[in-house]
Amino acid sequence: MHVTTLQADITTVPADLIIVNLFEGVTQPGGATGAVDKALGGRLTALIALGDCSGRLGATTLVHTFGALPAPRVLVVGLGNRQRFDLQAVRVAAAKAIAAARQAGARRVATIVHGAGIGGLDPQAAAQAVVEASLLENYTMPRASSRPVSEPQPTELTVVEFGAGRLPAVTAGVRLGQIIAESVILARDLIATPANIATPTYLAESAHQMAAAVGLRCTVLERDDVAALGMGIFLAVAKGSDEPPKFVILEHNAHRAEELPTIVLAGKGITFDTGGYSLKVNAAGETMWRMKYDMTGAADVFAVLRAAALLDLPLHVVGLAPLCENMISGRAQRPGDVYRGLTGKTVEIISTDAEGRLILADALAYAGRYRPQAVIDLATLTGAIGVALGPKAAGLFCNDDRLRERLLAAAAVTGERLWPMPMYDDYAEDIRSDVADVKNATLPVKSAGVSTSAKFLEHFTEGYPWAHIDLANMAWADPGRPLYPKGATAFGVRLLVQFLRDWQP
Ligand code: BES
Ligand code: MN
Ligand code: ZN
Repeated sequence: MHVTTLQADITTVPADLIIVNLFEGVTQPGGATGAVDKALGGRLTALIALGDCSGRLGATTLVHTFGALPAPRVLVVGLGNRQRFDLQAVRVAAAKAIAAARQAGARRVATIVHGAGIGGLDPQAAAQAVVEASLLENYTMPRASSRPVSEPQPTELTVVEFGAGRLPAVTAGVRLGQIIAESVILARDLIATPANIATPTYLAESAHQMAAAVGLRCTVLERDDVAALGMGIFLAVAKGSDEPPKFVILEHNAHRAEELPTIVLAGKGITFDTGGYSLKVNAAGETMWRMKYDMTGAADVFAVLRAAALLDLPLHVVGLAPLCENMISGRAQRPGDVYRGLTGKTVEIISTDAEGRLILADALAYAGRYRPQAVIDLATLTGAIGVALGPKAAGLFCNDDRLRERLLAAAAVTGERLWPMPMYDDYAEDIRSDVADVKNATLPVKSAGVSTSAKFLEHFTEGYPWAHIDLANMAWADPGRPLYPKGATAFGVRLLVQFLRDWQP
């Protein structure tokens, strides 16, 4: 969708559909909605009185203008309760509105910035929220089908601001929203691409092309390179597949690494997770097809680095993505095997299906080389996080109070929720191995499968503040939710971009 900003009175804008809004309980609309009402001879006020136009959050009312305005349709979207109004309400309203515009067959859509006027929000943040929500709600996953997409999609979004004073802020917000949403969409496309196409080689090539387009440094380590480095734990997972593994390093501001604060992001990049010899069975088997999404962490990291480059953030940001497939073959790892990784620590394999923590172990060890102020990893790591939280919030594991607070603050601003989970020392006892420094799982899974996974990762995080985000429950929406149509969500990108934008050393 092509996005532009326009200073105008929305009643004068020629589009297939214009979007205005209404708070709950308002009987006589003001502002832009009032102007539309006036142009329609009070018909909105009449519809409100009839009970046919609601200000309930996300409610939409389609009204035809029959020549009273240049646009043939007006869509009124509810903003909900005035007291509870915030950026998340803006996002929900904008998402519901674009969905209704799409349903109505509109291609050229114009909208006011919900909350920038009467709502009293920061106009830049409100404009960003409107654009992000509109683009992300309007997303359709890549298809290889001869069946046509049923509805025509909005192709043009004009963000209309009446006040000249607010125009610079709105323009800046639109640009932010567009860069961030397009980065999220890049990640969604990679995640949704089937694993027979989106191999480690394909993802490394995609990262390389993206990096060249936005000016990031991109280094791709091959199997021999990671072997020479000593990443034996990553290679233990990779060796079961015919697809060569890749270890992608993206860097923003690489040439200023010495003068800028360094933040490292590491993403789990399993392009397909069969479970290996600890094969996924029964209920898990029914959803094994979804395990193409097991590289969500890596795709998110690519997306965040893209946004960091385009927003020219004053930080040295490093993105690490260990990429491989978790397969079965004559070369695959076995339960009971022991492997030594980059730190020299050894791991006993209890379950080959606890592979995410294995590839991240070496990535987290590698992260220390940058002497970072913080390291955050993102992973579709456990089914257990979904049992604990449902598809409502990702799990946050963090052993540093300041880092935890910063991440929770970014979560609150973006609506990409995080919930803090415990990392008690006693969880470490559950993964003590008789033959190695640590084991990768407890089987049968005794309890706290999600906390023991974080405890495992912690072993490999020496020398920096670290946070782990388990988003296995958030990475695939089914059914869809506002901003997250059914399928790959790329949850976490908006959150981490906000976190980086707010970073103060
Ligand atoms: N990629 C999965 C996590 C997952 C499992 C996501 C189910 C969504 C649904 C991960 O690699 C995995 O298999 N985790 C195991 C760990 C266990 C063997 C300790 C799990 O959660 O079942
Ligand atoms: Mn697994
Ligand atoms: Zn996995």
